[in-house]
Amino acid sequence: MKHTEVKEIFTNPALTGSEVTVCGWVRTARDSKNMAFLALNDGSTFNHLQIVIDKNAGVALPPEAAKLGASLKIVGTVVVNPNNGTPEVDAKEITVLGVCPEDYPLQKKFQKLETLREMPHIRVRTNTFNAVFRVRSVMAAAIHRYFQERGYVYVNTPLITGSDCEGAGEMFKVTTIGYSDAYKNADEYYADDFFGKKAGLSVSGQLEGEVMAMAMGKIYTFGPSFRAEKSNTLRHVAEFWHVEPEIAFAELPDLIEIAEDMMKYIIKDYMEKCPEELKFFEERFEKGLTEKLLNVVNNDFAIVDYTEAIELLKKADVEFEYPVEWGCDLQSEHERYITEKIYKKPVFLINYPKDIKSFYMKQNPDGKTVAATDLLVPGVGEIIGGSEREADYDKLVKAMHDKGMSMEDYGDYLALRKYGTVPHSGFGLGFERVIMYCTGMSNIRDVIFYPRTVGNIR
Ligand code: 4AD
Repeated sequence: MKHTEVKEIFTNPALTGSEVTVCGWVRTARDSKNMAFLALNDGSTFNHLQIVIDKNAGVALPPEAAKLGASLKIVGTVVVNPNNGTPEVDAKEITVLGVCPEDYPLQKKFQKLETLREMPHIRVRTNTFNAVFRVRSVMAAAIHRYFQERGYVYVNTPLITGSDCEGAGEMFKVTTIGYSDAYKNADEYYADDFFGKKAGLSVSGQLEGEVMAMAMGKIYTFGPSFRAEKSNTLRHVAEFWHVEPEIAFAELPDLIEIAEDMMKYIIKDYMEKCPEELKFFEERFEKGLTEKLLNVVNNDFAIVDYTEAIELLKKADVEFEYPVEWGCDLQSEHERYITEKIYKKPVFLINYPKDIKSFYMKQNPDGKTVAATDLLVPGVGEIIGGSEREADYDKLVKAMHDKGMSMEDYGDYLALRKYGTVPHSGFGLGFERVIMYCTGMSNIRDVIFYPRTVGNIR
């Protein structure tokens, strides 16, 4: 259907005076005896296009056209409203493409996010979700551009896998059999299953990413990861989008530099490309958002040793729910205290105790810690997790052994340390968490199209 997008009407002054066809959905409608005004949105921009219907001039307004949610095609002339200087369309002909009955759920101007969460197929038609999903699209493109412009190779790692990267037992099983009492034990069951062995949905593309980095040098993945975490929090979903660069010949300080540079690049790009969305989020969801993001773009991130962070937390003048001791896994309350109260900016925490981190992380000479880093940001907490990888075959095998892992499942991975091993590093960025940080949306369920959480799928 040939038509002009609403965004173009707002951005191309040359259209003033010309006849256009516009399509979209009615967002508001005011109908009176002589005149009617419809606000039309087609998803191309935040702004609704005002359609002016002058009934005295003989323009017919079909009754179904003045209903919220109805889809319309309008032919008319672009004029500039003398009161506010904005373009609008003087309608000549209105065609109803799809009627929208009274039970359309978006009748009220403002609805609670909780209410909207119950109807993911409808909430995308609100200003808030229009903005969230446009920002997601812009930031996804920025991530690709950042890596592509720097020579990284985009790799699609498998989603169904036989190995558990993070080793935290959070894998969804992939099976074609399902409940059955025909098998005596699990081994028999899996032997008869589709792959002839246990399989699951990948929690991370890292291990395969490392394989590719040992051939291509610099790679990145951008795809979904799946985690069957039972935690029902504001920042966990069972299916999230994961950006995972993996870089040969990079050590921990190199990785930190890349992560900081990438964060600044994608935030700057978002601020440049989505000023209206940013303003909207600032007004509706997080006061000070623009200033916060400008500070991120213009200042160095902090780098803090885990051991030092523990000391700072112990000295803190607050009662934490979980006690702090060297060796403990930091809880969200600790991470947020460090980044929100102490540093008030993004913080790379580095050199974690090896016992609380994954088997593949490079062991530091102290024998107690690993060259890992998490990037913590105010409001969200952990946004990136990464590390330098253990490149030494014997040390890696020992770490796997200590963690009780089966070597058989990791043959390909171990081979990387046997055939031309090199120092290398990588990180995983949680895409939804970045969107939360950049929009001020405080619940991860509101930055992903169809959130999957424990007990909730549709
Ligand atoms: O820290 P994580 O578990 O690290 C890894 O998966 C590594 N294999 C990454 C790598 O080095 N290539 O996860 C990385 C990031 C977290 O910092 C977080 O932002 C996000 O992924 N994440 C989740 N986001 C939403 N819901 C969940 N359940 C998430 N789990 C992790």
